[in-house]
Amino acid sequence: MEVILLDSTYDISVAVAEIIANQIKKKPDSVLGFATGASPVETYKRLIEKYQSGEISFKDITTFNLDEYCGLSREDKNSYFYFMKDNLFGKTDIDFEKVHFLSASTDYVEDECKKYQSEIESCGGIDIQLLGVGTNGHIGFNEPSDEFTDGPFKVKLTQSTIDANSKYFENGNMPEYALTMGVGDIMRAKKIVLIATGESKAKAVYSMVKGEVTPKCPASILQTHKDVTVFVDKESAALLKYN
Ligand code: GLP
Repeated sequence: MEVILLDSTYDISVAVAEIIANQIKKKPDSVLGFATGASPVETYKRLIEKYQSGEISFKDITTFNLDEYCGLSREDKNSYFYFMKDNLFGKTDIDFEKVHFLSASTDYVEDECKKYQSEIESCGGIDIQLLGVGTNGHIGFNEPSDEFTDGPFKVKLTQSTIDANSKYFENGNMPEYALTMGVGDIMRAKKIVLIATGESKAKAVYSMVKGEVTPKCPASILQTHKDVTVFVDKESAALLKYN
């Protein structure tokens, strides 16, 4: 695991967008795993700039998003599909036929999860998986638990995740369930890039980088992946420097 400390969210976004752009240039039909939340928003802006300047095209890439809230339609402003459309996809030449999302409103959860996993496999796996980390150490919506998950599944969100994310919902009423890629799906990505900024992530960053590898902090398993780069700022890295 390589940890890179940069001065600002802007600097991190430039560096991460460069990694993703280089991947697209090397392999125009790359398979990219995208994340939602505040962490990747600036990176998505840099990628849009690269698209607008003609440096990269999204038209041949295939994407898989990490997770989606149950019960929200794609048109719902709080859905992660809407988030990706608004913050990245809708501002590029991406082919929406190649955009994959867990369909979290299905009544056939098990079938949907199996289908998603086999779609990832049949595309040859994910070349780069972009991640954020929850304040409780979650990746995707893999919450702290007694064992690491493997394939996609339906999860009941923990109170700490609800507390962290309900600010995005106008009436504070956010879904309690989501579908998420499992830890195994994330670990099978060939390369993983994680962004963690701000003081609220300091404990999670410490546990992820220096802590024991344990499902109590799902992000800690990234220590065992052969190609992970973690981008941090001074605030999120605050606890690392004492060790
Ligand atoms: C959310 C998402 C994750 C995200 C993380 C951090 O709940 N499910 O995919 O990486 O929590 O969010 P943020 O970047 O807003 O801090």
